[in-house]
Amino acid sequence: MSKDHREAPEPSLPPLGEREFLGYQRLVYQEAGIWLSPAKRALLVGRISRRLRELGGLSFGAYLRRAEEDAEERVRLLDALCTHETHFFREPRHFELLERDVLPRWRARADTGSGEGRRVRVWSAGCSTGEEPFSLAMVLRHHLPAEEGWSIDILATDLSTRVLEQARQALWPLEKSEEIPRHYLRGYMLRGVGSQEGRMKAGPELRALVRFQRVNLNDEPGLLGRFDLIFCRNVLIYFDAASKSRAVERLLSHLSPQGLLFLGHSESLSGLGWRVRTVTPTVYTPKRG
Ligand SMILES: C[S@@+](CC[C@H](N)C(=O)[O-])C[C@H]1O[C@@H](n2cnc3c(N)ncnc32)[C@H](O)[C@@H]1O
Repeated sequence: MSKDHREAPEPSLPPLGEREFLGYQRLVYQEAGIWLSPAKRALLVGRISRRLRELGGLSFGAYLRRAEEDAEERVRLLDALCTHETHFFREPRHFELLERDVLPRWRARADTGSGEGRRVRVWSAGCSTGEEPFSLAMVLRHHLPAEEGWSIDILATDLSTRVLEQARQALWPLEKSEEIPRHYLRGYMLRGVGSQEGRMKAGPELRALVRFQRVNLNDEPGLLGRFDLIFCRNVLIYFDAASKSRAVERLLSHLSPQGLLFLGHSESLSGLGWRVRTVTPTVYTPKRG
């Protein structure tokens, strides 16, 4: 790069004081249940500095006041702070459990005419940019075909309106296709051409299965109904014990009696005394009776 085109150095921001850090800690906890330990201080600075610059070099204190007063800015703050990393078919053994055990059992139950019939409801809570709900959509549609009368309803929710908007578009970089087993990729994803070159989009059959809604797992989610499967993976790791406990109670209150709750690989309900039975590590079902 020639000297003339060198980027100007970023103007430095006034440092984040202890009182301001505690203010952010309180606000983020109250709003989202996410606990910013003192070790997260550098992360907070790194993730909101860009926004402060966009706002003309606002100080951390002034931005905190703005976020406290303005609900829209709080959404932006939380969006910047949260980790949205996700993949198609993340933690493949969860999808294998569905394919080998859960879905054959549902099919057998439907064939004998007992149980809940051929209607399936799934909640992807903390869905980020949509890879999780669309992985579920591919597996469910493949194993529970519409021609056999199966209806599938997938609710995909997140705290961040930005990632929800991306998820709703169902459009990803083509490199992500490597995360998807070949037969699902061929059956359900469209390769972009022209202006969409280098991208892939979920086909209409898949998109029709997934609905999107902003739901904060730190609040009462409202009337969502009961689900056969709830995936809430790699979300509760950011919560402290109290907010995690409240969020799990809410998730369980939306799980059908024979439903399954899936958590992320480093999350567990052990030691918290939930009314659940472990099906396999990180997969839970309500205890009977
Ligand atoms: C690391 S991503 C996990 C995505 C996906 N579940 C997976 O496992 O690949 C965590 C997501 O949880 C969302 N999140 C964090 N706190 C939340 C809250 N209080 N309510 C709802 N979603 C939240 C974030 O916005 C982020 O998109």
